[in-house]
Amino acid sequence: MTDTGTDTTAAGADWPAWQKSWDRQQEWYMPDREDRFGIMLDMVEALVGTTPRVLDLACGTGSITARLLARFPGATSTGVDLDPALLAIARGTFEGDERASFVTADLKDPAWRAKLPYDSYDAVLTATALHWLHREPLAALYGQVAELVRDGGVFMNADHMIDDTTPRINAAERAQRHGRMDRARRDGALDWAEWWQLAAADPVLAGPTARRFEIYGEHADGDTPPAAWHARVLREKGFAEARPVWCSPSDTLLLALK
Ligand SMILES: C[S@@+](CC[C@H](N)C(=O)[O-])C[C@H]1O[C@@H](n2cnc3c(N)ncnc32)[C@H](O)[C@@H]1O
Repeated sequence: MTDTGTDTTAAGADWPAWQKSWDRQQEWYMPDREDRFGIMLDMVEALVGTTPRVLDLACGTGSITARLLARFPGATSTGVDLDPALLAIARGTFEGDERASFVTADLKDPAWRAKLPYDSYDAVLTATALHWLHREPLAALYGQVAELVRDGGVFMNADHMIDDTTPRINAAERAQRHGRMDRARRDGALDWAEWWQLAAADPVLAGPTARRFEIYGEHADGDTPPAAWHARVLREKGFAEARPVWCSPSDTLLLALK
């Protein structure tokens, strides 16, 4: 792994176990998370091939990077995120893998792209992250992403995109989803807060976890605009085409082609 961030890589933790427990925690919210990643990589292959240079935007532990490199061994990935604990897991996981590099940056910082090792990518991919931003900074970020994607390249965002013209459907979906989550909790699934308590108790992750709570608090505050908003803004910012390529009752995978 090429480490272009400022944090040092923590040694000594069981990185595969942390990856697995992060996946289980995220799947408690999104049982179809793995399907989403699969379609995302299908569309990468369809539009930019099997050796892409990818930016894993708001990468967390590097979930997209891991699936990308497993499926396309000739791909390369830059992960960018602000969370020191999740980045420690990402850096520990990909230590020694020259295909993956990680950058510490705040996507709300207008200069965040200056930290990247490249100024152009075949694909910028992101999941379950951009709802941490409000619409205005998200629109600004989309403009920056449009400049990073090469002509013919793609951007994909898998996230909660809520259509507020369908309040009764949304309420029914939410009730159904929370019923399933409550049942899974009774069977021992960890939620976000409990997962972070485990990280805080880990000798290697305790320091970075304390720093991430100083940065974000429990969770950043953001918006969940509908897919049509994302598609419109991405077209306004320079993409030629944009539309959902997958959706579940609660989530959408939106693809924009430059
Ligand atoms: C729920 S996690 C998802 C991580 C990963 N994409 C996945 O699917 O597992 C959301 C990520 O967005 C990152 N994030 C949120 N706001 C950010 C910002 N302003 N700059 C950089 N990263 C940000 C968080 O640090 C966190 O890693």
